[in-house]
Amino acid sequence: MKSQANKLAFNDGWHYAPAPESTDHIRIDEKYDLFIGGEFVAPEEGRYFETINPATEDTLSSVALATETDIDRAVKAARKAYNGPWSKMKASERGKYIFRIARMLQERAREFATIETLDGGKPIRESRDIDIPLAAAHFFYYAGWADKLAYAFPGRNVRAVGVAAQIIPWNFPLLMASWKIAPALACGNTVVLKPAETTPLTAMKLAELIQDAGLPPGVVNIVTGAGETGATMVNHPDVDKIAFTGSTSVGRIIQKSLAGTNKKYTLELGGKAANLIFEDAAIDQAVEGIVNGIFYNQGHVCCAGSRLLVQESVADEVIEKLRERMETLIVGDPMDKNTDIGAINSAEQLETIQSYLKIGQDEGAEMYQSSCDVPRRGYWCRPTIFTGVSQSNRIVQEEIFGPVLAIQTFRTLEEGLTKANNTPYGLSGGVWTDKGAKIFKVTQGIRAGVIWANTFNKFDPTSPFGGYKESGVGREGGLHGLGAYVKMAT
Ligand code: NAI
Ligand code: MG
Repeated sequence: MKSQANKLAFNDGWHYAPAPESTDHIRIDEKYDLFIGGEFVAPEEGRYFETINPATEDTLSSVALATETDIDRAVKAARKAYNGPWSKMKASERGKYIFRIARMLQERAREFATIETLDGGKPIRESRDIDIPLAAAHFFYYAGWADKLAYAFPGRNVRAVGVAAQIIPWNFPLLMASWKIAPALACGNTVVLKPAETTPLTAMKLAELIQDAGLPPGVVNIVTGAGETGATMVNHPDVDKIAFTGSTSVGRIIQKSLAGTNKKYTLELGGKAANLIFEDAAIDQAVEGIVNGIFYNQGHVCCAGSRLLVQESVADEVIEKLRERMETLIVGDPMDKNTDIGAINSAEQLETIQSYLKIGQDEGAEMYQSSCDVPRRGYWCRPTIFTGVSQSNRIVQEEIFGPVLAIQTFRTLEEGLTKANNTPYGLSGGVWTDKGAKIFKVTQGIRAGVIWANTFNKFDPTSPFGGYKESGVGREGGLHGLGAYVKMAT
């Protein structure tokens, strides 16, 4: 860590006054039960586990630990709702319920954003401006499809799949829940959803909202627990479809356990996206895009731009500008509206990131971290870059899921593409150039599901999302996202 002394002069001497979001307007209960059949019910074995605020390590609440009996109860409730009102309801009526959820989410956006930040550690600016508005946008978008499925699949007779088990991670808790629930309901399915064990609270708030929205009982069931609970959902014989977002290792386990069954599945897994900066790019804009791609949200993004490939002629300039920009990034209290980089989601994830920082240095790469202070309690990682890395280094090949960027250089477009594609993953990528022709060459040359040009990490409900290779199976979002929740009858 050689560059701590490098603190840049322009960042000395002044600070933003704190601008904390208040917690007066939210309610977090001491304990949350399981949301099954439209009601909150205690878990069969009566066990609960705590969820903490990773920025303070304080306990926020306890949530139920669902075991096999509970999952069975949830699946039965979902099946009953499917056979009962939901699959028989007119599609336009179904759409109205989904529109209602969207509107209520918008109305309660501030409350959801605050709880998301407390439970997961992401900056309030991000939950407020990205997660919650996009979550509502997904419900709005898919609500519109509910009575137009005939247009989505012209000439085909589509039917709902049935009961969907949905398992989501901790990096975009409410947004992932919305990505999964909204298209499932629009196509007439019922669901059992499990949030990640470190970020269950906005899912439980969504359960309350769904109850308030008056959805028929059992259409949406929300259960809490860790990996074992997730595995029980996957293996339940009466589940028709699995939707999973999380690590590639768990994705593999799920794929294996589904082999030979009739269950449909989509898996959205890890990534190691490359951002290519060409010498003709608008460099300041590109540096901003890199910062947005890997440092915001603590690098807890499956499609994060965790590799930077920069053309040799501008490498020094880009790295220098990046270092300067890193010095101005504010790391700390996620509830402060000035904060750029919040808390790492959990002690385990921080340990993983730290182990990669050591691996990178042991592999001979040069590490540079910004020199900001971080709070004493909670889990933090300053923005970090590695230079002098080679293609075979583990920090270039493996997903770190933290604010850590590996930087390589290239001379020609072909070399840049070869390096970008030399990865087991294929979720996303980025290109920065002034030339339209280069954009087309790169977007066609990178084998990844999403490629951004002169921007990064932009999302829209109308756009499909998903990966190649070890990044997953299937697409979510847009028209493609509907396909995962229907059966073609003709
Ligand atoms: P994970 O894959 O273990 O957890 C994701 C979800 O799957 C959670 O809800 C978890 O309870 C559930 N789960 C765990 N084991 C399961 C099993 N055997 N069957 C069914 N469900 C199961 O991810 P984890 O351990 O939290 O993070 C580890 C790494 O995964 C991260 O360092 C990161 O590299 C990657 N990751 C990728 C994400 C993505 O968006 N693609 C999101 C979160 C993590
Ligand atoms: Mg938490």
